[in-house]
Parts: sequence; C-alpha cells; structure tokens
Amino acid sequence: ASLWLVVPAAGQGRRVGAERPKQYLPLAGRPVLARTLERLHEAFPEARLCLCLDADDAWFDPAWVPFADWRRSPGGAERAESVVNALDAIAADATDDDLVLVHDVARPCVTVADLTRLLAAIVDDPVGGLLAAPVADTMKRDDGAGRVRATESREGLWHAFTPQGFRLGLLRRALGEAQARGVAVTDEASAMEAAGLSPRLVSGRRDNLKITHPEDLALAERVLSAQQR
Ligand code: C5P
Repeated sequence: ASLWLVVPAAGQGRRVGAERPKQYLPLAGRPVLARTLERLHEAFPEARLCLCLDADDAWFDPAWVPFADWRRSPGGAERAESVVNALDAIAADATDDDLVLVHDVARPCVTVADLTRLLAAIVDDPVGGLLAAPVADTMKRDDGAGRVRATESREGLWHAFTPQGFRLGLLRRALGEAQARGVAVTDEASAMEAAGLSPRLVSGRRDNLKITHPEDLALAERVLSAQQR
C-alpha cells in the first residue's frame, strides 16, 4: 500500500492580511509552502503527494516540491472540498486501503518526530487518527456581546492539529456523506466522527501552530529556529 500526502494549499489566507496568500509569505527566507513540504519530505521521502492549489494561483513554483511523485488538484470553495478534489485525483492510482495523511500547508512547524509517531500510531488502526494536544487554558463561552456567559470545562478537550491520517476508502466515503448531508467539516476527523467513527488522538507538540494571523509568521520563525538548536 502507498502512503499519500494531501496538502490543502488552496486557501486565500485573508486573515493574515498580506498581499499574497499566506502559504507564499516568506518564513525564514523560504515560502511557507516550501517549508511545509520540506518537513513532510524529510519524514516521508517516498510518499506520494497531492497538492490542492487554486486554479488561479499565480504564486506557486513547482521547484518548491521535493517529492518525486506528485500531482496537483483544484481547490474547492471550502477546505473540505479541496480535500475531496484531491482524494478524487489520487483515487485512480490508489487503493481504498492506502493511508492518506492530510496536512495543512499553513503548519510548517510540524516536526519529523511527530510525523513519524503519528504514522506509527495509526498505521494498524482501523479508524486512523490525528495529532492533537490537550487544552491548557480555561475555556470561556461568550454571550454574543463580548462578555462571558459561562466557563466551559476543559476536561477532555483537545486542540486538533494536522496531519490527520485515514484510509482512502473510509475518508472518501465519510467526506462524501458529510457533504451530502450538509454537515460542516473543518477537518477530516469531523467527517469520520459524523460517520460514527472515533479517530485516535495522538499527542503532539503544541508548537505545531497554524499560520492564521499576521503575528503567527514571526512566532513560526522563532519555533523553527528553536527546533534547529
Ligand atoms: O484558512 P485555514 O487556515 O483554516 O485553512 C486551512 C488549510 O486549508 C490551509 O492549508 C488552506 O490553504 C487550505 N484551504 C484549501 N481550500 C480552501 C480553503 C482552505 O485548500 N478552499
């Protein structure tokens, strides 16, 4: 069975507020997208890659792809749609038993150790799983007007990161069903949950941050340089 990597990179990244999509902003001298692909390649040099890119993407440079076996697939209106397109694009060359790791292009700080540990934890798991970390902060629910309505228990709450890894057949079916039923899925695990399955939580580093806001770029640079020391 092959190991597939699906990297959704078709977002516009408007919350960063830059002149270009966030995956193309420089992170310690290299585009975010190049950094993320380098990390994935370091962990899984033989994996096969599908990169979700917007059809009108004017920034992408194939020289940033270190994988020998790779293809691109068209982005969708939502992240989940981009992932569905990618799974459709690889289906002809894959089997339902192939493992697919989906990793946000905006998470360049994922470590090789976490990637390897995730794969080891899910390779024989009937459902699959995701990198995640227990919530450390006290959680507040607002009243819709900027004031606290309630404190929610953080007991048993986790932050969901990526990669998230599942068998191609199961994941395609789960995402397809979620789309058909109009269930909002912001990650692959939530589609699996909607199908009645319980993905495995694999404890990962908290510095696997997603570049979302402008200040995250500087933070990610500090994380990368600390990891290299
Ligand atoms: O915007 P956000 O950070 O939640 O996006 C998560 C990931 O999904 C990013 O890697 C982004 O490029 C990708 N994405 C996508 N297609 C979309 C929206 C987001 O591939 N339509």
